[in-house]
Amino acid sequence: MSGKLVVVSNRIPTGAPSSGGLVVALHDALTRSGGVWVGAHPDQDAGDPESLTEIASGDYDRLAFHLSEDDYENYYLGFANSVLWPLCHGRVDLVEISRAYEAAYLGVNARVARLLAPRIGPDDMVWIHDYHFLPLAVELRRLGVTARIGFFLHIPFPPLSALSTLPTPGDFAAWLSAFDLVGLQTRRDTAACLEMFRADPRAEFMTDGTVKFHDRTVSVRSFPIGIDADSFAEAARAPDPEAELGVDTGADLVIGVDRLDYSKGLPNRFRAFGAFLDGRAGSDAPRASLLQIAPPTRERVAAYRAIRTELEEISGRLNGAHSELDWTPIRYIHRGVERSTLARLYRRARACLVTSLADGMNLVAKEYVAAQDPENPGVLILSRFAGAAEDMTEALLVNPYDIDEMAAAIETALTMPIEERRRRHAHSLRVVRDTHVTRWAQSVLGCLATCPPTLSLRATP
Ligand code: ADP
Ligand code: G6P
Repeated sequence: MSGKLVVVSNRIPTGAPSSGGLVVALHDALTRSGGVWVGAHPDQDAGDPESLTEIASGDYDRLAFHLSEDDYENYYLGFANSVLWPLCHGRVDLVEISRAYEAAYLGVNARVARLLAPRIGPDDMVWIHDYHFLPLAVELRRLGVTARIGFFLHIPFPPLSALSTLPTPGDFAAWLSAFDLVGLQTRRDTAACLEMFRADPRAEFMTDGTVKFHDRTVSVRSFPIGIDADSFAEAARAPDPEAELGVDTGADLVIGVDRLDYSKGLPNRFRAFGAFLDGRAGSDAPRASLLQIAPPTRERVAAYRAIRTELEEISGRLNGAHSELDWTPIRYIHRGVERSTLARLYRRARACLVTSLADGMNLVAKEYVAAQDPENPGVLILSRFAGAAEDMTEALLVNPYDIDEMAAAIETALTMPIEERRRRHAHSLRVVRDTHVTRWAQSVLGCLATCPPTLSLRATP
């Protein structure tokens, strides 16, 4: 690449990344390649609306754009997280259509484009991430940016039927057509994206598989995201954190690690753990405890507050019914945990529950597999609706809507013979290694550098 790499995402890390798959993956990728990462200022209302502010840099530069209280409410909490997030995660019932949200979303994208355009040379590569910035390439093209611009959607691509709940359903296709490359997590997402273009009379399919849309062509491909498995495994092998965290001894540990998001299927997970405990009541099977680490997220959105209340109610009820003086079956921690501690906890856990109702990839599934001792690995219980399930077919795949099936999967995981655990783990580990985050970034950027040139560099309407 002769120019520089410019990465744009709403969230940028302030120190070491904590929770959120996008930041964790891109931090690893940019640490290796260098470049500049542009994102929203971590402190709300900080910085200048008309310039980019330099913030603490390390292996790469970080530039921040300002978000006012109004932008935060209407662009971030509003259009991004109360329209696009539920739309893409199969929760059309939670979509809140609002003209103010839409105006702020378009306004922030137009302003970020204005601030960025003068910094982008024709040989640079621009890589834009996630649903906060769908219209950003349209805006950059309007300002004459000719550099290659790629997009990666970290969350599921919505089905055509869900797109029709947007105020202007055709916007999605027009926004995406201003990119040279649209990268998605799974083959299923690619099929959904192509279905959207197929249904759009403005789009035409070319013989090389690209989509022609007005005067541009866009390539659509899946690039399953991953992690740096070796460094995660190394962190996991450090001494056991049991003492420092006070994890119950004498009980098999089952772990869950998720932002407290309604898409993660946490109430059903807790219910399934309760059903598993019911199934063991009166037996002499060893005790098992669920450790759920769930930092709060987007708490000003009502649906996120509701899920927190619901979970507290379920875990309180289950602990009330099952706890004993020396044993609390569900431990529920509402905060972020150091990545090194997390890695060691994964290694200690006999099973990991990933029960998303919809999920772009789910990095927790990959982290859990990477952290295991290959000689004595724990078992990953994985929702069929997480992107990771497309390739991790030897995990214990479950339907997260089926409480009894998940309860049975917990029992199966905790009693699985070692040979079967090793065989399943070896397969999952191969998948995790094949999707190493560096290779993921290289293949997206390699594809962006070589994908067919656009037909014309004029702006899309
Ligand atoms: P999402 O991107 O929807 O949050 P992922 O599973 O893809 O879901 O990514 C979540 C990332 O955030 C993982 O790297 C995970 O380790 C990290 N994470 C989630 N919860 C915590 C937590 N409580 N403490 C530290 N890291 C967390
Ligand atoms: C998911 C999204 C990211 C987002 C992250 C955390 O991983 O794909 O774009 O950054 O969740 O959410 P937040 O709203 O806190 O940035």
